[in-house]
Amino acid sequence: MVTFHILTLFPDMVMQGLHTSILGRAAARGDIAIEAVNIRDFTTDKHGKVDDYTYGGGAGMLMQAQPVYDAYQSVVDQIGQERARRVIYVTPQGKTFHQEMARELSREEEMIFLCGHYEGIDERVLEEIVTDEISLGDYVLTGGELAAMVMVDAIARLVPGVLHNGESAETESFGDGLLEYPQYSRPEIWHGRRVPEILLSGDHAKVDAWRLEQSLARTKERRPELYEKYMEAHP
Ligand code: ADE
Repeated sequence: MVTFHILTLFPDMVMQGLHTSILGRAAARGDIAIEAVNIRDFTTDKHGKVDDYTYGGGAGMLMQAQPVYDAYQSVVDQIGQERARRVIYVTPQGKTFHQEMARELSREEEMIFLCGHYEGIDERVLEEIVTDEISLGDYVLTGGELAAMVMVDAIARLVPGVLHNGESAETESFGDGLLEYPQYSRPEIWHGRRVPEILLSGDHAKVDAWRLEQSLARTKERRPELYEKYMEAHP
C-alpha cells in the first residue's frame, strides 16, 4: 500500500482525476490511497488568502510560506516525521521526470506532493520541507496539479497489485529501455491492411524475435539516444 498526499489549492481536480479507471479501482481495493490536502484550509488569514505580492517587486503573486507549511505539518502529524521522507515539489525548475524515477518512488510507502500556483511558492518553506524538485518537462503549466497527477499515475501503476496483468508493466515502452513493438487486434484485415503474417503463425519464439526487432528499429528511428543507451548495455 502506497499513500500519496497531495498539497494543493484544487483538491477536487486531483481527487476526481486520480480516482478514475485503474487508479480508482486500485484505491477502492486499498492498493494505493490518494489524499488531497487543501492548502487554503490552513491559512491563518481571516479572508482565506494564501498568496501575496513578491518582495522586490515584479508581476504576479506568490504562495506564502505559512499555509503551505501548516498543510505539510498536518500530514506529518498524521503519518509521523519518519514516514514523511519524500516531499516532492512539482516545478519546471526540477529534474525532468522519467520512468526510472517513477520506479524508484513506487518503492516508498508515503509521498507528499506539493503543487504551486501563481508565480510559485516562498523559497523559505521550500528550503525547509522539500526533498525533491521534479518537472514534467520544459514547458510551463498554470499550476502543479496536472504535473503531480501525471507523476502519481506513473508511480501508482508500478505499485504491486495496481495492474493486474503483472507482465504489462515489464514489456511496455521503457520497461527494458526500448519503445514497445506495434500491436494488432481483430480483424486480420482492416482498411486493406493485413496484420503481420508472423503474428498469426503461433510460433512464439519467432513472434518474440520479431517483436524485439520491431522495438529496436522503432527506438533507433524515433529515440536514437535511447537506442544508443540500450546497445551499450546489451553489447
Ligand atoms: N508547474 C508548472 N509547470 C510545470 C512543469 N512543467 N512541471 C512540473 N510542475 C509544473
